[in-house]
Amino acid sequence: MAIEDKIKELIEKRAEARLGGGEKRIQAQHDKGKFTARERIDMLLDENSFEEFDMFITHRCRDFDMDKKKYLGDGVVTGHGTIDGRVVFVFAQDFTVFGGSLSEMFAKKIVKLMDEAMKVGAPVIGINDSGGARIQEGVLSLAGYADIFQRNIEASGVVPQISAIFGPCAGGAVYSPALTDFVLMSESSAYMFVTGPKVTKTVTGEEVSVKDLGGSHVHAAKSGVAHFTSENEEEGLMMLRKLLSYLPQNNLEDPPLYKCKDPIDRVDEQLNHIIPDNANKPYDVTDVILSIVDDNEFMEVHRQFARNIMVGFAKFNGTPVGIVANQPTFLAGVLDIDASKKAARFVRFCDAFNIPLVTLVDVPGFLPGTAQEYGGIISSGAKLMFAYGEATVPKITITLRKSYGGAHDVMSCKQLKTDLNYAWPTAEIAVMGASGAVEVLNYKEISKIENDEERAEFIAKKEQEYKDWSANPYRAAQYGFIDDVIEPMNTRFRIIRGLSLLQTKKDQRPPKKHGNIPL
Ligand code: HXC
Repeated sequence: MAIEDKIKELIEKRAEARLGGGEKRIQAQHDKGKFTARERIDMLLDENSFEEFDMFITHRCRDFDMDKKKYLGDGVVTGHGTIDGRVVFVFAQDFTVFGGSLSEMFAKKIVKLMDEAMKVGAPVIGINDSGGARIQEGVLSLAGYADIFQRNIEASGVVPQISAIFGPCAGGAVYSPALTDFVLMSESSAYMFVTGPKVTKTVTGEEVSVKDLGGSHVHAAKSGVAHFTSENEEEGLMMLRKLLSYLPQNNLEDPPLYKCKDPIDRVDEQLNHIIPDNANKPYDVTDVILSIVDDNEFMEVHRQFARNIMVGFAKFNGTPVGIVANQPTFLAGVLDIDASKKAARFVRFCDAFNIPLVTLVDVPGFLPGTAQEYGGIISSGAKLMFAYGEATVPKITITLRKSYGGAHDVMSCKQLKTDLNYAWPTAEIAVMGASGAVEVLNYKEISKIENDEERAEFIAKKEQEYKDWSANPYRAAQYGFIDDVIEPMNTRFRIIRGLSLLQTKKDQRPPKKHGNIPL
């Protein structure tokens, strides 16, 4: 064969591979309002940066006449490219080939990609749209999944791993995304569940739709499996590009530094007045976050889940940081099981990838009640405490208002080796709030007062005495638990100066295989 013919053959084969399961199936995908695997990759990456691996791979299955049904690439598109000029590895399941189902060779392609990503030290993005295990391949498919799971586990904390779900993701297939750092689901077409509606009905009698069992709103607001949702695929892919802009390529690098045009000494006088006079009145901590970060830009993670705590990424003087903040507008910012788990996972991610942590505290305590106690609030709170205590990245805590009891300790207090602890003059750092304290300390005297008015007067007097004694930052500052009490409007500048100071921070813990976080 002449070289011209060989090149023609190559071009034809490439064209065949790019068609996946064929034009009809591509059309069917478009008719469902979904993009194809290759279209998704093109939207995600910098223009013309994608280089594909293994487009000529085919499966080896002979059962069910499968030797007569082969598609180049075998249902998954893999390769590398760039996002904002930085290398990323990408795989996208191709629903047009056997419903994107996972075969032995399909799995090998993903495993190869992940091994490459680990060698190079670059993030992995997986785009999921699949009917799960390729039924015709039986146990080979199960083994293929497990090979990928093992790679997810080994890559955890080494390179960032991100999953986008743009179609079905069911059965054991859910575990690869679940093992990654962030999961994004499209609102229109994504669903995830271990067991589908039919089996659910047979086993439990429950009747539930696909959407209500595993749609994006379920995982974003109830289970917490999804960190982000997007109206459509395009928006989702842009969100992933934005997310990566805050992250380093791997655990040995620092996050990228950006030029900052927002003045570092910008003061916001309104912050001095943001805390209401009445301690039981809420304010939106989002306003505090937006006011202090560069260009008022904050990328919130887990926005719909456990809204009593906010977590997300922002920059200070061009340095990406992770922010954790109690949210007084939702359940008064109390710590409960979900909030503790949400924040703990975020803190651990930031620590694994050298992203400094800024914590804004306004927490009245832990949520009481049997539901929380039976559900294990003890170990959930301990998770967050563990995450903060083991984190060695620069840690700065600002106490805005309440910081009571065990929740004070958990929320990155000084003794959890936090580097800088500042408090606003409005801070109240105490074992508990005034009404609880008076009830415990004075219950004998209170029970002896028969007249309602007199009793109320006595309680109010005692509460005021307790407040005067405890509702301030100076009791903690007196012992050095607070490094400085700062004027709220200067918060941005103080954080930036702190982060600059801590750039050279070194903090080593005793060598061990790994800790045993209370899971
Ligand atoms: C082989 C599959 C397949 C699968 C779909 N296809 N899923 N082929 N193995 N798992 C094929 C279909 O036969 C069809 O082929 C094409 O893909 C498109 O599928 P449709 O059903 O036409 O598409 P749609 O109506 O959109 O429905 C999508 C779907 C449905 C909901 C995903 O296909 C489905 O229910 N598939 C089976 C899901 C499943 O039970 N998977 C196994 C889960 S257990 P043609 O040739 O007609 O176009 C599992 C264990 C993993 O995954 C364990 C890991 C540890």
